[in-house]
Amino acid sequence: PTTSSSTGDFTSEVLQALSKSDPISSTESFPDVPFESIKAALDRLASRSMVIYEQVEREDVFLEPEAEVIVSHGSHEARVFEAVRQALDGLSIQDLEGKIGDKTVTKLGQGKAFKEKWIKKDGAKLVALVESINDVTRDQLKVIQEKHTHDAKIVADLKKRKLLRTQKVISFRIEKGPKFALELVKEETDLTAEMLASGAWKTATFKPYNFKALGADQHAGALHPLGKVRQELRQIFFEMGFSEMPTNQFVESGFWNFDTLFVPQQHPARDLQDTFYVSDPVKAGRPGPTSAEDKNDYETYFKNVQEIHENGKYDSIGYRYPWSEDESLRLVLRTHTTSVSAAMLHKLAGQKKVDGRVPPARYFSIDRVFRNETLDATHLCEFHQVEGVIADYGLTLGGLMEFMDMFFAAMGVTGLRYKPAYNPYTEPSMEIFSHHKGLNKLVEIGNSGIFRPEMLEAMGLPKDMRVFGFGLGLERPTMIKYGISNIRELLGHGVDLNLIQKNPAVRFDKD
Ligand code: PHE
Repeated sequence: PTTSSSTGDFTSEVLQALSKSDPISSTESFPDVPFESIKAALDRLASRSMVIYEQVEREDVFLEPEAEVIVSHGSHEARVFEAVRQALDGLSIQDLEGKIGDKTVTKLGQGKAFKEKWIKKDGAKLVALVESINDVTRDQLKVIQEKHTHDAKIVADLKKRKLLRTQKVISFRIEKGPKFALELVKEETDLTAEMLASGAWKTATFKPYNFKALGADQHAGALHPLGKVRQELRQIFFEMGFSEMPTNQFVESGFWNFDTLFVPQQHPARDLQDTFYVSDPVKAGRPGPTSAEDKNDYETYFKNVQEIHENGKYDSIGYRYPWSEDESLRLVLRTHTTSVSAAMLHKLAGQKKVDGRVPPARYFSIDRVFRNETLDATHLCEFHQVEGVIADYGLTLGGLMEFMDMFFAAMGVTGLRYKPAYNPYTEPSMEIFSHHKGLNKLVEIGNSGIFRPEMLEAMGLPKDMRVFGFGLGLERPTMIKYGISNIRELLGHGVDLNLIQKNPAVRFDKD
């Protein structure tokens, strides 16, 4: 078959060719059509079962430039013979070289012509021994030039003489498929109301579903690793009966962030080096109701806190220093979410009694806090704190340890160790450690304690109510889970969006 176009749709040419001869053993009969076009057309036809095709690979031989010269001018030996034969009374070697015009060709051709007994030496001259010769090499090469193949032994021999090279040729073998036709019928992609109404659906050809097609890339939003770990932790808290505290207020007064927690006003944690203070406005108003339903007594609470700092109350001797209201009302970016725990516990004290007493409660939060830190690979000025409080009767330190064991076990962290610690607001206090396999040492993973009675009684909570509190960072477990070694890859402007997009869903693995 002849081809008219080297571009465009090649399908009808294939169909025409097949109707004349089936199968087509090689698409080399379409030399002008690019490989891609042939393949595209065959795929199109095969998807409609109009043809069946398979790719065939063959090793073809092609002439090297030297062989091309032989095909047009004859082999070296034939050229030598021709020159000698034409000179009727022989030819000297110098004259032969002059006639051939190439020293190497002359030398090689002479040798071969002697061997074939085409010429001989007669004195100082070369003379022909035969009338005519067959230039076998040239004939063989001519065949190969056309067919790109020949007897294996001949090909091997010519390759050894560096006259040929082999090259892989990819082609297709095509035969008629079960739905072979000369025309490519339009395939419907949808069954329409019109087709149903007109009855056209009966004869329409429908495009088959391509179940191998990949879905389009959705470029969907991706969840940040911190958000995923946070979600996982929230679930653990909910399963353990906690409810979530409102932590949507980053700015707090010193009162809620420090004073309610008995962090004395001259405590180093309240220094500028550690805490960010708001410059405008500088001060908050006195603490008061947060909503119309909030009937809590903030006046008494505020007074109680002042009294405990200055003189002590509820069996506490206090810090015995002049407490400043101005200092208490200064606005800070909260340094921990324990400020929210304090506000929630104060609200709990004012809640409706259940069975004649303040009901037990479990609260948690996971949100952002701010500290004036020196930035490095593991510290940022803002991070997320996981905070929990449990208020109940008859709680013990052993109960707190058991709870922490359970809580961390739910995250897959076991074998906790506890170390006595100090917080102004808890007594006793314990730092929580876990063995880090990678670092092969104990690392601190949390801080906890039982809130001081003067803190709780100042809020109006009953004397026999005990409250556990604990806090941990969200960033560290997230970095461990996601194998991130620099916190700046996790939070802030240095975050690589690709990392967020490509991260797998988070799991708390058992190991
Ligand atoms: N506020 C503590 C911290 O920032 C955590 C904590 C909360 C400790 C409640 C004891 C009780 O580390």
